[in-house]
Amino acid sequence: MTSPNTNITSVLKESRIFPPDPGFTAKAHIKSVVEYEELWQRAKDKPEIFWGERAESLHWFTRWNKVLEWKEPHAKWFLGGKLNAAYNCLDRHLTTHRRNKAALIFEGEPGDSRTLTYQQLHREVCKFSNVLKTLGVVPGDRITIYMPMIPEAVIAMLSCARIGAMHSVIFGGFSAEAVAERNNDAKAKLLITADGGWRRGKVVPLKQNVNDALAKSPTVEKCIVFNRCNTSVEMQKGRDLWWHELMNEASADCPAEPFDSEHPLFLLYTSGSTGKPKGILHTTAGYLLGTSYTHKLLFDIKDEDVFFCTADVGWITGHSYIVYGPLCNGTTVVIYEGAPNQPREDRFWEIIEKYSVNILYTAPTAIRAFIKWGNHWPKGRDLSSLRLLGSVGEPINPEAWMWYHDVIGGGRCPIVDTWWQTETGAIMISPVPGAIGTKPGSATRPFPGVVAEVVDKGGNPVPAGSGGFLVIKQPWPSMLRTIWGDDERYHKTYWSHYPGWYFTADGARQDEDGYFWVMGRVDDVLNVSGHRLSTMEVESVLAQHAKVAEAAVVGKPDDIKGEGICCFVTLKAGVEKTDELKKELREHVAHEIGALARPDEVRFTEALPKTRSGKIMRRLLRDIAANRISTQDTSTLEDLAVLAKLRDDEE
Ligand code: PRX
Repeated sequence: MTSPNTNITSVLKESRIFPPDPGFTAKAHIKSVVEYEELWQRAKDKPEIFWGERAESLHWFTRWNKVLEWKEPHAKWFLGGKLNAAYNCLDRHLTTHRRNKAALIFEGEPGDSRTLTYQQLHREVCKFSNVLKTLGVVPGDRITIYMPMIPEAVIAMLSCARIGAMHSVIFGGFSAEAVAERNNDAKAKLLITADGGWRRGKVVPLKQNVNDALAKSPTVEKCIVFNRCNTSVEMQKGRDLWWHELMNEASADCPAEPFDSEHPLFLLYTSGSTGKPKGILHTTAGYLLGTSYTHKLLFDIKDEDVFFCTADVGWITGHSYIVYGPLCNGTTVVIYEGAPNQPREDRFWEIIEKYSVNILYTAPTAIRAFIKWGNHWPKGRDLSSLRLLGSVGEPINPEAWMWYHDVIGGGRCPIVDTWWQTETGAIMISPVPGAIGTKPGSATRPFPGVVAEVVDKGGNPVPAGSGGFLVIKQPWPSMLRTIWGDDERYHKTYWSHYPGWYFTADGARQDEDGYFWVMGRVDDVLNVSGHRLSTMEVESVLAQHAKVAEAAVVGKPDDIKGEGICCFVTLKAGVEKTDELKKELREHVAHEIGALARPDEVRFTEALPKTRSGKIMRRLLRDIAANRISTQDTSTLEDLAVLAKLRDDEE
């Protein structure tokens, strides 16, 4: 790990504080900082009692008999309990006033829209669960979901949960190669996709990618295809089946079976510091409790709210705050299929106006794009229904925070900046609205049950204001349970730096008020537009290219994306350094991983700068990529070996 560094130097100077609005506080779930602190302290001192009480909010077929078994680094929560995640998200609402409440409001990119009530969603999920059963899916099977942002993605996820199969959702922006790699790691039995999905007026050819992926995925026996775009696709006889044909035959009677609290709910692949993505495993009860409880308190959810989370279900934000948290709470969720600037730059604002959205949850990278597009877009729409705003995925720079607050929130909406990770399952550090005053750029204080600290390499707390490593010192219900098929990596990645504490791989500091300022990753993970990517993944893909000898990949500051991808490449002998080759390499990465990994810059170099022991000097490369140092003084612009000599002792 390297020292925490910050891309956002301005957060260090930020001192504005926005106290909670008394009108908001009066109606909030948590009404004061004292109430928050009592809750937090109780959760820290008596976690089993605290979480046991919270777990009463879920529906149980059989109650647990032990709240926590912690054999570091393995936690089991609510032992002996039996429940069903889909039952919690659907069935139990059917006997209440929520039966005919909108569960999902879907807005397609071309302008089509659909609403599914809890009852309708339940019916679809029951039918699709029966489809899966008929195809031989049994509890514990892994099912890949590679779909656009349409209700069927949610239906597929909840159907897996209903019958105890584990879903592994792969973001639609990933390539065929990436899909095959994840299928194989998970040994997926079945894949659910669509012919395509709409993005910027074009069809993303999901089924075509799937065809390529399945040629290399021997464990996948069947593929279900939803017809979203009416494009003609190649269907392989005996393997590929149409969603609508299967659903025509399916019964809507599918009682939810009880599963153990620790029954695996899903795998979600994310990037780590090696080239191989990690299958993060989450289990049923703890995850459901963590997501529903944080969702309720941090978004201050009321029954009448309309909640719009702009994430894709392919990421953890979509899992936790489109599907499991909100539906478990019986909330109305808006989902949108496409790009924020299709057909125009006010699409989000149009959706907020159209559905009177009360809570918006989006990412800083989107906010920065909105700022660039101009205030006239949001100003042209009625955003007065909004009462709370959320931010997720990367540090939010104070400038973006202030714009979000003033232009979108009209100065009246609290902003909850939410720090968390795929691994944490649910939000960990964020201001409980109505109770905690906010500071632009700070995720503020840990959620009840989260014991977070900033420490130095030796595990000692660092003084207020100093940078260090963010750790979590007690287990929490929605924590990951392991890395699929690689418990050793789980142990090494998260629990070996500080025995007994979870290592987040984020750098942070705490200010004199105890507020956390998360500064970014300290490992070789990039955060490009809020998407997690491993530098090693990009490097190994570049190294596979026939003309490349060696490659080193680092992040560079980017005004919109937060971080961009810069590749330093040495070519094989005799290969000419041309702009065409740069383009070819960028496309090669996009083809192998997905468009989200397309490098922003490729730079050819004679040699990569290395330390005497042969380690690539990434800090030097980061400085060059960010133009923080001048390369003018070396004999040739990219003769990095010379620079490396000057810096050898620094890395
Ligand atoms: O570096 C942190 C950053 O995103 C990483 C986790 O990425 P992922 O697992 O893809 O989950 C993203 C959505 C939860 C973290 O290690 N990060 C996420 N939220 C914030 C953040 N950094 C600063 N502030 C945040 N609010």
